[in-house]
Amino acid sequence: MNTVYRINEVSMTRDLKSDLRDITAGFADGKIFLFFETNTWKHCWPLIRDFRPIPALNILVLEPGEEHKNIEQVLATWEILGRKGADRSSLVINIGGGMLTDLGGFIASTFKRGLTFINLPTTVLAMVDASTGGKTGINFRGLKNEIGVIRQPKHVFLYLPFLRTLDRENLLSGYAEMLKAGLIADPEFWQDLKHFNLDHYSEEGLGRLIWRSVKIKKDVVEADHEEHGIRKSLNFGHTIGHALESESMHSGHPLAHGYAVAYGMIVEAVLSHNKLGLPSASVTDIRDTITRLYGNLPDTIRKTEVLIEWMKFDKKNRDNRINFSLLEGIGKCRVNVEATEEEIREVMQNSV
Ligand SMILES: NC(=O)c1ccc[n+]([C@@H]2O[C@H](COP(=O)([O-])OP(=O)(O)OC[C@H]3O[C@@H](n4cnc5c(N)ncnc54)[C@H](O)[C@@H]3O)[C@@H](O)[C@H]2O)c1
Ligand SMILES: [Zn+2]
Repeated sequence: MNTVYRINEVSMTRDLKSDLRDITAGFADGKIFLFFETNTWKHCWPLIRDFRPIPALNILVLEPGEEHKNIEQVLATWEILGRKGADRSSLVINIGGGMLTDLGGFIASTFKRGLTFINLPTTVLAMVDASTGGKTGINFRGLKNEIGVIRQPKHVFLYLPFLRTLDRENLLSGYAEMLKAGLIADPEFWQDLKHFNLDHYSEEGLGRLIWRSVKIKKDVVEADHEEHGIRKSLNFGHTIGHALESESMHSGHPLAHGYAVAYGMIVEAVLSHNKLGLPSASVTDIRDTITRLYGNLPDTIRKTEVLIEWMKFDKKNRDNRINFSLLEGIGKCRVNVEATEEEIREVMQNSV
């Protein structure tokens, strides 16, 4: 058996090449398009290269990095797909982190009203978050994920050997989303994550944790496709996190998404204490765990007024009201908790 775990269209596999051969069996060689960016082309292509013959011209290597998740790359790629005769009988395979699965998913979803696509996430963040759930998109005019569509991939294959070349910062960035999954939904998982040794781990051990996290996200998304209710629990740490991420990008010292969320979770844990009575011991537990892994909160957190402006700007907040998903306890999240600017200011000043 190749499949280690599976839920619907997401599976963790031991033999990706064989799974790719099977899933692409109904598509002609010339109709399969592989999207990489330069880093995943270098590190990940060698792990799948001979799964079946793919014409070299159908392999597109895009520019890496958040700054290239943009309309220019979309236009250039639509152009190539058009020239190569991509049509509704084509298949796009996205091989990369969240930047590439968001971008490639968006390109595939919009070309000729939507080509079938598969995601092969190559970062922890993309495995546990970006590659599942169906959100695709690009940044536009300085705003993150401003343009996009929701469309499900035909399949998502998680393959742990991709992670062997990932650096520690990116490993930790994805791990933050896993910590979040534990905090919003599963106290036992939170404990296991806290005690997991990221310096010496087995692929199997990490795979088990990644899968638990995928399962939490899947359960939450299945219960609320339209993001009216419980899906918002996935935003824990993200109201503050997005503001930190935007400001750090804006001021030329970008923070990795997961780091921003990790720091956001510290601040939002304090807010959870003030607004929902999250016990002080849990706040300390969250703060200690996060600072041990991610270091102290960055100085950007002191830019209270600027960060509040970013929060008001966030597409998730309306009419100047700032919305949070907060914790009542570890493993228990409440969505749609509004906080006033005064409450936010007070917490940001006290959690640094
Ligand atoms: N669609 C969603 O639901 C969703 C959810 C969360 C995040 N996102 C998006 O995901 C993106 C962040 O994802 P990310 O952290 O994976 O970023 P990323 O794709 O930019 O990858 C991070 C870095 O790792 C490199 N890399 C990727 N795979 C590698 C590998 N196997 N070995 C070595 N290096 C590798 C990349 O080239 C890049 O430099 C953001 O654009 C964010 O908006 C989307
Ligand atoms: Zn996130």
